[in-house]
Amino acid sequence: MRAPDTVPDAVPDIVPDIVPAGVLQTVGRTPLVELTRLEPAARFRLFAKLEAHNPGGSIKDRSALELLREAIREGRVVPGRSVVVESSSGNLGIGLAQVCGYYGIRFICVVDPRANRQNIAVMRALGAEVEVVTRTDPVTGEYLPVRIRRVREILAVTEHAYCPDQYSNPLNPRSHHATMREIWEAVPGGLDYLFCATSSCGTLRGCAEYARAQQLPVTIVAVDAEGSVIFGREPAPRLIPGHGAAVRPALHQDGLADEVVHVSDLDCVVNCRRLAHREAILAGGSAGAVIAAVRRMSDRIPAGATCAVILPDRGERYLDTIYDDDWVAAHFGDVAHLWKEDRPVPEVAPC
Ligand SMILES: Cc1ncc(COP(=O)(O)O)c(C=O)c1O
Repeated sequence: MRAPDTVPDAVPDIVPDIVPAGVLQTVGRTPLVELTRLEPAARFRLFAKLEAHNPGGSIKDRSALELLREAIREGRVVPGRSVVVESSSGNLGIGLAQVCGYYGIRFICVVDPRANRQNIAVMRALGAEVEVVTRTDPVTGEYLPVRIRRVREILAVTEHAYCPDQYSNPLNPRSHHATMREIWEAVPGGLDYLFCATSSCGTLRGCAEYARAQQLPVTIVAVDAEGSVIFGREPAPRLIPGHGAAVRPALHQDGLADEVVHVSDLDCVVNCRRLAHREAILAGGSAGAVIAAVRRMSDRIPAGATCAVILPDRGERYLDTIYDDDWVAAHFGDVAHLWKEDRPVPEVAPC
């Protein structure tokens, strides 16, 4: 199949300033809030970094901006001429669609049927061309190898094509040095544990690189999906997109995480729904995963410790799955009692 050969409607006359401008100035510097209602009996403090507050709705806005800004600066991507091609299950695709849309760069995103319809619609609304692969890889039964092969095919037949390759590009983790720095600077009195979900390993590696370089005394906990191969486990089917990977990413290195926790799809659902019920935070599946990991480790976290979780994206993208009662019942049975348990009415601090 040939790559589509349209060009973006609006091509800027001048090479844009690569200092983030316009909406791109709002990437990063997301809020950090304390979660006091989720585990009222916990002996440790828990803070959440709300990455949904990025303009494209996820932590991947940071990676998208860093990947393309540097490529533009180095002349590998030229607005109006280059074509950016990437494989994404959704969030990086939205981030790249946003950066490409801002700079007037044509963008082709290869996704699979697990990407949700809303993400695809958002990318298209921002001007991206979205191609959905339909078959799984005959060896692994996964979509990812097929998506990667399709990206290579498009690159081979498209002039001035550039693939940021989030799975191996060191600019992806570099974008998360700021994520770690922001958390460290915002948490009062130092951070003991950081929980972060993994897929390309960009967040994990970037936070770990920054923490090690600055000698921050923080234990970094990687949170992966059951059925993901990143940390050497056997592949298995997974329902929830975002965290986890069917192929170990090139960015993975041994020793990035001090601990690894694997979380099931049901754990993600239950903890997303608890987060919504108790803290009024509507977040994506991997947010449920990191909360599940904190609960799993809670007996081992010392009293008085300070923990932070990174909540990678918005819950709106999961309204027809995680937040849909019928979808949940169809996949897991009658589990609503797991997040609807009684809880004391929270105290309201006086104004
Ligand atoms: C919702 C969500 N959570 C977690 C991750 C994992 O982040 P990383 O690719 O930096 O490992 C991603 C990556 O796309 C994601 O979209």
